[in-house]
Amino acid sequence: MGRLLRYIPAKLDHVRTLGAAGLVMGSLSLPGRREREHAVLASEVIDIRQFTARDFEPLLEAESRIWRETLRWDYTTSRRLISSWLDEKRLSGYAFLRDGQITGYSFFFYEAEKALIADLFVMPEEEQVGPARVLLEHVIETLLATPGLRRVETQLPHFTFEELEPCFRAHGFAGFLRRFMALSLATRRPDSAVPGQEAGHPTSQAVSVPGDFCVEPWERKHDPPAAALLYSTYGQHLDSRINDQYTSLAGATRLIESIVHQRGCGQLLPQGSLVALHRPTRKLAAALAITAVRPQTAHIPQVAVAREFQRVGLGTALMETSFRELARLGHEEVSLAVTDLNAGAVRLYQRLGFETFRTFGAFAWEGR
Ligand SMILES: CC(C)(COP(=O)(O)OP(=O)(O)OC[C@H]1O[C@@H](n2cnc3c(N)ncnc32)[C@H](O)[C@@H]1OP(=O)(O)O)[C@@H](O)C(=O)NCCC(=O)NCCS
Repeated sequence: MGRLLRYIPAKLDHVRTLGAAGLVMGSLSLPGRREREHAVLASEVIDIRQFTARDFEPLLEAESRIWRETLRWDYTTSRRLISSWLDEKRLSGYAFLRDGQITGYSFFFYEAEKALIADLFVMPEEEQVGPARVLLEHVIETLLATPGLRRVETQLPHFTFEELEPCFRAHGFAGFLRRFMALSLATRRPDSAVPGQEAGHPTSQAVSVPGDFCVEPWERKHDPPAAALLYSTYGQHLDSRINDQYTSLAGATRLIESIVHQRGCGQLLPQGSLVALHRPTRKLAAALAITAVRPQTAHIPQVAVAREFQRVGLGTALMETSFRELARLGHEEVSLAVTDLNAGAVRLYQRLGFETFRTFGAFAWEGR
């Protein structure tokens, strides 16, 4: 599944800050620079710490609207955090100004030897791609000049993969196409009639759980085995190239902690979050976390089935069970993000009724 941009560092004390003061563009060597310089004539790129949250209000308001309307996500909590970090001068990054107005920004965090580009956004009224690439260029150059940096990760849903990929490729990043998908829960409602289908349609029948397994609510005691499950399931998985927390048990533990207890991806919905246990061994065979990302929209930040129990219907059973409960509670849709190359998972989601409503890029730099 992978971490989307809702990254919140566990401790802001770990966030290093930039030394440089304001920078004007002009030293850039991007392809097509001349055209972009023409397009961004009265523009400059300035260290984000030169401003207060108040200066960013119109930009944050526009970004919140895009998150709500296009990405189906309530940005209120993130916006509040970003505003306080801006006022405390704790964010590292750059603002893009046109005619003295902030029309874009990008910021990043360091976590030990790793950096995360947490956001890149440009006002929708603007020509967005040129300023976005200029901002990115500043951020990447700053990060790659950081001594000892081992890795950089990012997922940037405000832009398509194609719009940003040339910029990242030029600096040796690997790129991965990601899909935002959503499923309407209308047909899962207990009282729903599926047009053209008799009562007894699969959506109205009981969910069948494979025989050797039982499904239970996700409780705190399941966190350690769920972390171990993620580590063993994703160790060699494509998504561990996007988010290297999967490559260690400590990282997988932090990921679970962030999803389940720190609202790293919305508020956990205990009613929809489930685990499957293998009856003969009592081993945790599968885990499904569900969060609320806006009223009536639930989200799947994590679903994993242990390798030895994959392809017997467990993933389907967990999701169908959860979706019925979510529909019963009044949720209207479920969203998720998936890597396009994870073809089996994409097929499974499509079979369940998910449709892609947005694609974007994840990028990772894995050292020189
Ligand atoms: C993606 C994932 C959660 C799916 O879980 P799963 O339990 O394997 O899924 P299901 O068994 O319900 O369905 C998947 C496949 O098994 C098949 N299947 C379902 N029941 C089956 C059965 N009784 N016998 C044989 N095959 C079966 C399905 O037809 C489907 O086949 P397909 O991929 O060829 O289309 C699981 O593979 C996984 O954890 N992968 C690694 C982590 C990951 O990628 N997570 C998702 C990130 S977005």
